[in-house]
Amino acid sequence: MANDTAFEMATSSIRYGAGVTREVGMDLAELGVRRALVLTDAKLAASAPVATVLSALEEEGLTFELFDRVRVEPTDASYRDAIDFAAAGDFDGFVAVGGGSTIDTAKAASLYATYPAEFLEYVNAPIGKGRPVPGPLKPMIAIPTTAGTGSETTGVAIFDLVEMRAKTGIAHRRLKPTIGLLDPENTATLPPTVAASTGLDVLSHAAESYTATPFDTRPKPDRPLMRPAYQGSNPISDVWSLQALRIVAEYLPRAVKHGDATARGRMLLAASYAGMGFGNAGVHLPHGMSYPVSGMVRDYRPKGYAVDHAIIPHGMSVILHAPAVFRFTASACPQRHLEVAEALGADVSKADPSDAGSILADRIIEFMQMLDVPSGLAAVGFTADDIPALVNGTLPQHRVTKLSPRPADAEALTGMFEDAMRYW
Ligand SMILES: [Fe+2]
Repeated sequence: MANDTAFEMATSSIRYGAGVTREVGMDLAELGVRRALVLTDAKLAASAPVATVLSALEEEGLTFELFDRVRVEPTDASYRDAIDFAAAGDFDGFVAVGGGSTIDTAKAASLYATYPAEFLEYVNAPIGKGRPVPGPLKPMIAIPTTAGTGSETTGVAIFDLVEMRAKTGIAHRRLKPTIGLLDPENTATLPPTVAASTGLDVLSHAAESYTATPFDTRPKPDRPLMRPAYQGSNPISDVWSLQALRIVAEYLPRAVKHGDATARGRMLLAASYAGMGFGNAGVHLPHGMSYPVSGMVRDYRPKGYAVDHAIIPHGMSVILHAPAVFRFTASACPQRHLEVAEALGADVSKADPSDAGSILADRIIEFMQMLDVPSGLAAVGFTADDIPALVNGTLPQHRVTKLSPRPADAEALTGMFEDAMRYW
């Protein structure tokens, strides 16, 4: 079978600047929206960013309803709740104000309210049926209040499928928000633990997309329309991913420890840059392995997260695997692993390619220690006895695991989970 020879750069429009949230009413009117659904979570519902959005909509004379039941780390049930609300309300546009959980929930609500279907119809195969989004969706404006997922730039919506205790998602270019409004004022009150976790998600998005297997190693699709959103590393994604890494290295520790406006603004940009990179190239094993880990959480409750249930925040569950993965994958493309380490500030001038994995892993561990992240899976409640179930939960995540530059079977995954138990 021939390999693909083309790749595509798809991303949302992005507007950046302090105060741009106030422009959302103008944007919706410009897009022809008369009746909007504003989605957020219960904690943010009373926050300044949501108040700013609602007053901007009022000023423009738009009608709207507020849905504030987005679940942090959403589930199929919480998606359905939002979908039902959206389907009943006859909305012609959507605004998501929050972190990746909220923006992803808005994507699902928009999709199923516009093209109703059984829930698993659009969910990624092999867990769901993987049916492409049938047609255009209504305008959506995403206003992130964390600097992490890059969901404002991507066509991906992730959730926990509770009966399988695993995360999966819906991925299609048509899910991309129409506009992402990046406003540093909206991350002013981000708790340090949330800034750390979401910022390490940015780091991993960029490192994974830069080291993903190249787009021209993937089989050519039967029809161009079937080309996946996650195409493999490619020359355009590379630019965004590398620059995101440089910004993370310079500004993430400062954004977490001091929270100053400059550092917060740079991290919002880095999250979007990495979103443009991974939204087209894809992520691989650190994300694939994180999905069963967050699905199998027992009683871990991180500081700074106002939630009524145990969670391992997404960025934390991802970064806990990154050092183990890059030690494993480096032999497939050592030069790319060294370039990632260098963009993150490591001195690679005298590095031997055979050391690429350990140099990159060590640099990531330094960031984890700097930002007070748990020292491995053991510190968030897992033991060696959990590894077979974690491996079984990772194997079906084909959409991302197949982008690993070095194929990983059950034995290799077992080795990486063992390595990830404790780094220091
Ligand atoms: Fe992520």
